[in-house]
Amino acid sequence: MESKMLKPIFIAIFLLFATGSFAQQKQNTVSPGELWKDDQGNHINAHGGGMLYHKGTYYWFGEHKGEKSNNAYVGVTCYSSKDLYNWKNESVALAVEDNPESLIYKGCIIERPKVIYNDQTKKFVMYFHSELFRRGYEAAYTGVAVSDKATGPYQFLSAARVNPGYWPLNMSQDHRRLKLKAEDYGKWWTPKWREGVEQGLFVRENFYSGQMSRDMTLFVDDNGKAYQIYSSEENLTLQIAELSNDYTRHTGKYIRVEPGGHNEAPAIFKRNGKYFMITSGCTGWDPNAARLLVADDILGEWKLYPNPCVGAGAELTFKSQGTYIFPVQGKKDAFIFMADRWRPSNPIDGRYIWLPIQFENDFPVIKWMDRWDLSVFN
Ligand code: DGJ
Repeated sequence: MESKMLKPIFIAIFLLFATGSFAQQKQNTVSPGELWKDDQGNHINAHGGGMLYHKGTYYWFGEHKGEKSNNAYVGVTCYSSKDLYNWKNESVALAVEDNPESLIYKGCIIERPKVIYNDQTKKFVMYFHSELFRRGYEAAYTGVAVSDKATGPYQFLSAARVNPGYWPLNMSQDHRRLKLKAEDYGKWWTPKWREGVEQGLFVRENFYSGQMSRDMTLFVDDNGKAYQIYSSEENLTLQIAELSNDYTRHTGKYIRVEPGGHNEAPAIFKRNGKYFMITSGCTGWDPNAARLLVADDILGEWKLYPNPCVGAGAELTFKSQGTYIFPVQGKKDAFIFMADRWRPSNPIDGRYIWLPIQFENDFPVIKWMDRWDLSVFN
């Protein structure tokens, strides 16, 4: 092509950039399962995420994923938004470390990060499921990091098991004293073994090293007390552990929920004084039916109810697994259920399923919607 002809093409391309015509178009709806582009036109990379609202801005934190692996080669990402539809890429909030001695060495596993803000210390505190480099899911650690700014950079504080040397508040003295070991209960999934799990076999086994913690979320109650909720005891039992006033440690106060119930992906919210928790079953990256747990007090008793999802696709949680539930600011009884449609063959292409929570007889109900906006809450 002659250079005379190329010149107008270059000018046109320059003008397109200069006028922002290539910029991401403003969005005003949520389309569950579709590509969700950030301000740079890239599919949002914040899987297993959580949401923080702080001073007029929503911050979405999640796992950065690549095309081949679910492992953490980058760290925890952050996106910000004022309207919940349009997201600015705030880049990496917590970076994996280059040092092989580090507990968050590049290539380790970092899943389901959540951030809460501490009003007293004015710090942002991040918790995440942390696994060691090339050790699969055996460590079952909780990671903690802090920052002065919502978007980071977060300083890594610790990765460890939870509450070593403490018994759950709701484990009986008899069960604490039992001397039986895992092998005494025989093969997994036999009635005897199940009974062993209910009696706290894994709590006892991990009493000194600390309780296992994998899928997790955080919750700050109206009185400012914060809690971590995590799949423990080989993912068989949920535990809810109180955090210290500065939110960086566990206090030793914790309970077991649904021993042997095999719940993952806990997501919690509070409405009219009641606590509602939506979880999944345990089927790896494959979806399954969600479950609902309800309590009047965060430290129990929790009661199990059937799947809150209804309609077509409900039996597989609309091919997704929950990760977080958050209230929409300025609207009454408006909660959004955030879930992931995992794609282990190409993790970066995992999709986000966000659906509004509706209420029927004061119980949460989730229905599929191809496309929706915040007016559903009006
Ligand atoms: C299901 C969990 O919910 C995910 O966060 C992840 O840990 C996968 N299992 C791994 O198989």
